[in-house]
Amino acid sequence: MEIIKGIAELRSRIQQAKEDGKDIGLVPTMGYLHEGHLSLVRAAVRDNDIVVVSIFVNPTQFGPNEDYDSYPRDLEHDAAKLRELGVDYVFAPGVQEMYPEGYNSFVEVRDLTDKLCGKSRPGHFRGVTTVVTKLLNIVQPHRAYFGQKDFQQLVVIRRMVTDLNIPVEIKGLPIVREEDGLAMSSRNKYLNSKERKAATVLFKALEKGKEMILEGERDADKVREEMAGLINQEPLARIDYVAVVDPEGLQDLKKIGDRVLLALAVFIGNTRLIDNCFIEV
Ligand code: PAF
Repeated sequence: MEIIKGIAELRSRIQQAKEDGKDIGLVPTMGYLHEGHLSLVRAAVRDNDIVVVSIFVNPTQFGPNEDYDSYPRDLEHDAAKLRELGVDYVFAPGVQEMYPEGYNSFVEVRDLTDKLCGKSRPGHFRGVTTVVTKLLNIVQPHRAYFGQKDFQQLVVIRRMVTDLNIPVEIKGLPIVREEDGLAMSSRNKYLNSKERKAATVLFKALEKGKEMILEGERDADKVREEMAGLINQEPLARIDYVAVVDPEGLQDLKKIGDRVLLALAVFIGNTRLIDNCFIEV
């Protein structure tokens, strides 16, 4: 496994692999890898001949008061895990390599990005779609892998790839959870032990919503209210949003149909966590 920091160097390796007829898989990450990321990497190693994992904490997707500076970073540890899984290249560019002096281009997906996380994180998805476009252009992979924990991100990236005719297959993989249901996230590191316990309220609320729907509840407001009520019982939790939406357009539902997405963003202390549950009835 090689750790590569330069775009030109990575490109020449990829070009050679493509000339040799190899299939390329890309797993874009911001590092501080957990089992959720590793499940994407395992799938990529299974499906492709050559796997590139990018590790880049992308400044353009963080708001001015967000955690860009404190976002956890541990390249050495990440590289050791990736080596074990059989990854070929870790692409770990610096900020100057990705956004050099004079950089001035952005990719924007409309509508889908105004909702859910887009409401409380203005500009976030513009940063995500920009960096993902850059990574897809740099690597030009056959397949790229994303987790369903960032369900909205996945929907937005699929839209972008379709709209902009980017020739890549987007793979979305299931959420990986801790034993008590907490969705794995690099941001779980911010939680102290009391907060870590309180954080299980997200999964409990999703489970409650899912149970109601599977038992026949079709009134989205009732499901929303029940989930919000459960979260509000936890003193360390503060709701950003609790949403019952259609999984394609991410629009709020009144009446629940065959396919529904329950999506949450909740502050536990100062840490904003997201989680979701896709249900097909
Ligand atoms: O999901 C993430 O970790 C990031 O948003 C991504 C896709 C790597 C872009 O920076």
